[in-house]
Amino acid sequence: MDTTLDSFRRLRERGFAHRFYEQLFVADRRVPRLFAGTDLARQRDLLEHGISMLLAYQRGSALGEIAMRRLALLHGPRGLDIDHDLYAIWLRVFLDVAGELDPEWTPELAAAWHAQLGASIAEMHRRGT
Ligand code: HEM
Repeated sequence: MDTTLDSFRRLRERGFAHRFYEQLFVADRRVPRLFAGTDLARQRDLLEHGISMLLAYQRGSALGEIAMRRLALLHGPRGLDIDHDLYAIWLRVFLDVAGELDPEWTPELAAAWHAQLGASIAEMHRRGT
């Protein structure tokens, strides 16, 4: 399970969040509008923190669970109301950028990332209302 944590350390060292948002913005025309008023430098830090929290949640951390629930409410129908299909795009961009930047990328690591983030996203959707 720790492979994704090691991978995330390598990704952060290589400017992951910067490349991620660059790619997310061109992945779907709804995205630029959603982030129109956002301080992206701050958002990049928040994203890295959020992903770390979701990895912690997958490892049974209570703090990780609190963060996941907060993210669920923030993105859910009573908050930003993000369309569910955008999460699939988000995850695809995540895996593409991670595969591009992590020098130790393997199909097994891609599967581990997909499983851990996918499970967190499914839980965020359940908790979002
Ligand atoms: C599991 C996937 C996701 C994670 C980990 C994540 C993480 C975060 C975090 C940490 C924040 C900042 C929360 C705060 O202000 O405290 C945030 C805000 C935001 N997220 Fe996400 N997010 C995810 C999915 C998405 C998706 C799919 C979209 C839409 C394409 C999206 C759009 C936004 C927007 C528009 C904001 C508000 C930006 C602002 O404050 O101006 N997020 N997200």
